[in-house]
Amino acid sequence: MFPKSFYPPPLFMNTERNVNISVEPSLCRHCQRCVQVCPASVLAWTSGRVPQMRAAGQCIGCGHCVDVCETGALRHSLFPPGCVHEVRRDLLPSPESLMELLHARRSNRTITDCPVPRAVLDDMLEAARYAPTAENTRRVRVTVLEGARIHELERVVMRFFLGLSRVLMARPMRPLTRMLLPDLYAEAPELARFRERWESGESPCCCNASCVLVFSAPAGYDFAWQDCNLAYQNASLMAEAHQVSQVYLGLVQMALRFMPRGKVARLLNLPKGHVPRAYMAVGIPRFLYPRYTER
Ligand SMILES: Cc1cc2nc3c(=O)[nH]c(=O)nc-3n(C[C@H](O)[C@H](O)[C@H](O)COP(=O)(O)O)c2cc1C
Ligand code: SF4
Ligand code: SF4
Repeated sequence: MFPKSFYPPPLFMNTERNVNISVEPSLCRHCQRCVQVCPASVLAWTSGRVPQMRAAGQCIGCGHCVDVCETGALRHSLFPPGCVHEVRRDLLPSPESLMELLHARRSNRTITDCPVPRAVLDDMLEAARYAPTAENTRRVRVTVLEGARIHELERVVMRFFLGLSRVLMARPMRPLTRMLLPDLYAEAPELARFRERWESGESPCCCNASCVLVFSAPAGYDFAWQDCNLAYQNASLMAEAHQVSQVYLGLVQMALRFMPRGKVARLLNLPKGHVPRAYMAVGIPRFLYPRYTER
């Protein structure tokens, strides 16, 4: 229904430093808000004049100066008028409705074969794009895996865990595993059940997902984990708002961290130079939960 893998088109790849900012004097109220909110001190204030651009090369393209200006006096070359929208405060969720969404969000693993509508995925990817990123660098990309790619991912992850447990749970190794890796030792029965489910055609590591979203960022980028996981959470809450299941695939993350980067990139069809930092199983649940328990 949708391409095997696609990336949310960035509205603006934050590499452009040659920005231009101008202020229309007839609209400016001299409120100085644009100067106050700029996190990079790009704008300068001189009494009696409109704000001036003083350090264009420092601009991180966050758009705060444009968004805070009540009269639309400030023009920024990265944000032409068609890209700037009024905030519809009447559409914002109340604290109560947002809290209820957070209560309702569960890792609902009852995923069916029904495909996830493209419109839902589009909303999730848009939500991911609006997550904060360090210095607004927006390096996160989301790759969507489906069908054969998910089966291959499941196979690779299962083989990793089965191989690992074969070695660590072999009779002579067991006492050592129990002492040094108690968490893994405790998971051994669960792994045996995973194996049964996998052999009967299920995908226990990927939760029978219809799609797996892979959140990646360039290798060596300092805030890769943070940015990817913030984007993940935005997408997750949007899925919940659509009553679509999303499950964080920690086992997949754990297994693939031990594999060569190039092999992982090919397996996941990642953008060049990217490393995965979060995985989400997505699908239509068989049923919803009528209750939530307190935390
Ligand atoms: C991992 C991470 C680290 C950040 N560190 C800082 C920081 O040290 N100081 C700061 O003022 N903003 C920090 N930010 C905020 C970003 O600069 C901000 O999210 C980005 O410019 C986009 O602006 P927005 O959040 O208003 O959309 C950080 C954001 C992230 C995700
Ligand atoms: S926010 Fe707008 S109105 Fe206020 S000083 Fe800046 S350009 Fe002028
Ligand atoms: S886009 Fe952000 S960093 Fe650039 S001038 Fe405006 S407020 Fe400052």
